[in-house]
Amino acid sequence: MASMEKYLDERDLARSLRDDVRAGLSGTPKTLPPKWFYDGRGSTLFEEITRLPEYYPTRTERAVLVEHAPEIARLAEAKTLVELGSGSSEKTRLLLDAMLERGTLGRFVPLDVSEPALVAAVAALTAAYPGLAISGVVGDYTRHLRHLPDGDHRMVAFLGGTIGNMVPGERAAFLTDLRSVLHEGEWLLLGADLVKDPAVLLPAYDDAAGVTAEFNRNVLRVINRALAADFTPGAFDHVAAWNPSHEWIEMRLRSLRPQRVHIRDLSLDLSFTEGEEIRTEISTKFRRVGLTAELESAGFAIRHWWTDPRSWFALTLAQAVHP
Ligand code: SAH
Ligand code: TRP
Repeated sequence: MASMEKYLDERDLARSLRDDVRAGLSGTPKTLPPKWFYDGRGSTLFEEITRLPEYYPTRTERAVLVEHAPEIARLAEAKTLVELGSGSSEKTRLLLDAMLERGTLGRFVPLDVSEPALVAAVAALTAAYPGLAISGVVGDYTRHLRHLPDGDHRMVAFLGGTIGNMVPGERAAFLTDLRSVLHEGEWLLLGADLVKDPAVLLPAYDDAAGVTAEFNRNVLRVINRALAADFTPGAFDHVAAWNPSHEWIEMRLRSLRPQRVHIRDLSLDLSFTEGEEIRTEISTKFRRVGLTAELESAGFAIRHWWTDPRSWFALTLAQAVHP
């Protein structure tokens, strides 16, 4: 029982990629928004990242889910599970199992901007959960939350620490927007990576096998293909740095030499000096007080906060309350 709804088509994607690339690469410093990492190849590379020895977030969040999924199912009594930025929905199976066991769950709605990742996930989940109604939504969680199926007793899962890929202003707008489509009493299950020793953080974003570097450079391949640009991905170094004042990891691409790049579909000529960087991604690490305050000001009250024994990753169950 699967269906697929699409709020982003090729033209829509091409238009927003054009706007983002023009805005991000014309200014100084140069930046690019993270959602463009995830074409088919990007999503596959991300799945590889989740299995790297240095990349602790996935296995840490999974361990927290293993321990608490039955309790989450009991507390939320949700009939519909929505997942934002669902990717492969691998860890989500722990929630689906617990919610089905509990007997409340009728429908699963994964939403992702990456159509190839979503199509593969929906196919795999349909085979594994033949009785469950699965409605995939190809969409952008910063624009299409209004299209989520209505109802009450929904729980929205946003896992993987993806919330940390937004800057504070974007997070506030996203949480407020999400709160506005939920009814009082509905649930948000949020995975957030926590502040820890940079000696643990940095290798997670700069692994020895170079998978993260390939993932980072993939955004240049996406732009080459979609906008007829001529980036040489190998002419950029992957850089991961801890920014202690913002408490986020910054991912950058550093030009190895002076070079020019032409983006034909934008009629844009770019020049890079040697060492010039494009900021491609941030990954914010949270503290409990700060995240609690952010959720509260968007109209969510934290009911539970679970972590692993080392307090590396938090899973929090929050409820939509009267604003
Ligand atoms: N939830 C999975 C995947 C995390 S990777 C996990 O925990 O492992 C981030 C996912 O969010 C990717 O699948 C990416 O395609 C998706 N994504 C990134 N930006 C998005 C956006 N603006 N709207 C919807 N999905 C987005
Ligand atoms: N949500 C993931 C995170 O912040 C995304 C991610 C992991 C990522 N590794 C990356 C994004 C490398 C860009 C580059 O951990």
